Amino acid sequence: MVEELEPPAGAAADWTISQAWGRYSAAEHAMWDTLFARQSAMLPDRVVPEFMAGLDILRINRPGIPNFEELSDRLMRATGWQVVAVPGLVPDRVFFEHLANRRFVAGRFIRTPDQIDYLQEPDIFHDVFGHVPLLANPVFADYMQAYGQGGLRAADLGAIERLARLYWYTVEFGLIRRPEGLRLYGAGIVSSYGESVFALDDPSPHRLGFDLRRLMRTRYRIDDYQQSYFVIDSFEDLLRQTVETDFAPLYAQLAGQPDFATDAIADTDIIYTQGTQAYARARAPE
Ligand code: PHE
Ligand code: FE
Repeated sequence: MVEELEPPAGAAADWTISQAWGRYSAAEHAMWDTLFARQSAMLPDRVVPEFMAGLDILRINRPGIPNFEELSDRLMRATGWQVVAVPGLVPDRVFFEHLANRRFVAGRFIRTPDQIDYLQEPDIFHDVFGHVPLLANPVFADYMQAYGQGGLRAADLGAIERLARLYWYTVEFGLIRRPEGLRLYGAGIVSSYGESVFALDDPSPHRLGFDLRRLMRTRYRIDDYQQSYFVIDSFEDLLRQTVETDFAPLYAQLAGQPDFATDAIADTDIIYTQGTQAYARARAPE
């Protein structure tokens, strides 16, 4: 997230811009359709069923990139959330303020064909396909709002990095336990063709039980697939644990404790899979 406090020219004081939906090209709409078809075909047996239910919100009666106004109308009726466009990454407080008011900020650009499998900055496919379906779920929707409120608080307490780890290992890269087995729910996974397979099936990464304090001490990587995923028991449990815990004393307590590396296993961890880390090792620079 960026530090500048002034929104760029053309953006509103809250950093939102118009989606300018009419300006997408046929090729851009076609890119959305390609990505949508590919992910919605591979996800049904991998993703949490609540995600598939929420995906209907995105099936507006015409192909192509969803129009945020229509999308927001539907989402508003489901859970009171809206989707607003922003120029790119926004300052932390701006991001938290939007979430706290049940507004999800999304980029409006879409990846180009050479970026179909990998891109650094989140595009509209990640932001909308990855995040919006679960915002139609009432419990997850409440979690996202609580996270925004917690973010504003963390900003005052100088603890944004700790809270960012929680977002990373839940909202972006979370797994959930179901009677049928582990399932995906993190937006960073479900919007990625490669990681949707890797996160569940590859022998390389660890899959560990969700533990709030432990996870706030765990670094993460933004350059490649995760080396550890954390598994929640349910959205209700995630919401309950995070809302019922006062994070202020937690931040103070954790300040003196060392971080865990991205591939560490702690003696308190519940281990669903102890990964080989073979993928990460093969990719590491000499
Ligand atoms: N309970 C947290 C706090 O005291 C707020 C929060 C709730 C943060 C849910 C993240 C998710 O700051
Ligand atoms: Fe995201």
